Amino acid sequence: MIYWVGAAIVNRVPAADSALRLTNFSNIVVFGAYATYVIMTVMMLVMIIMRMPAAQVSTQRISEILETEDSLQEDSRTEAPKVGTVEFRNVSFHYPSSGKNVLENISFQVQRGETVAFIGATGSGKTTLVSLAARFYDVTQGEVLVGGVNVKDYTFDARYDRIGYITQKAMLFSGDIIEQGTHEQLLAKGSFYADLYNSQFEKAS
Ligand SMILES: Nc1ncnc2c1ncn2[C@@H]1O[C@H](COP(=O)(O)OP(=O)(O)OP(=O)(O)O)[C@@H](O)[C@H]1O
Ligand SMILES: [Mg+2]
Repeated sequence: MIYWVGAAIVNRVPAADSALRLTNFSNIVVFGAYATYVIMTVMMLVMIIMRMPAAQVSTQRISEILETEDSLQEDSRTEAPKVGTVEFRNVSFHYPSSGKNVLENISFQVQRGETVAFIGATGSGKTTLVSLAARFYDVTQGEVLVGGVNVKDYTFDARYDRIGYITQKAMLFSGDIIEQGTHEQLLAKGSFYADLYNSQFEKAS
């Protein structure tokens, strides 16, 4: 539209007056550029306004999460008398969102170096049981002991040092195995891979 009107204006100037034609022409080009800036800005403003409700809802949700109080409190224990053991004593548990017990009166002991498998139908509580050992939730009854100490008595760091948790989904490493380094490199890095390897093959770390 701008260029269409502009062309008409330039054309109206007699061809002999080339200086005026040029001035008109450049004015129109500059005007066109400025008009584009203005339109772009308005478009951006419209985009911002359109996205505002989504941003508002997201902010609300984020602040909800940030303001959620941690239902698990840490204690002060850092030492474990019985290294590498896990014990459940009369554990019962139901999720906060439902009153029905998922686990009832579960008791067992696992010694260092032992491997235990829990077998059960879907929804029987295997994942729940393991997440209790890692204290993702607090038991509703009974106690869970790791290294001979109630998991509630540990500091968070001490507990994380003693429990490694690998989920059903393969989310542990990204990329391929070669990229992660050779077996020796990974062992030398220590930490999780070494723990995993040592626990599987019973080598003292
Ligand atoms: N976050 C949760 N909130 C409420 N109930 C849950 C929650 N997670 C699991 N449940 C319920 O607890 C019960 C046990 O679930 P869990 O995931 O421990 O079973 P599972 O034995 O691991 O099953 P699967 O073999 O499918 O992995 C199920 O009835 C499930 O609906
Ligand atoms: Mg499961």
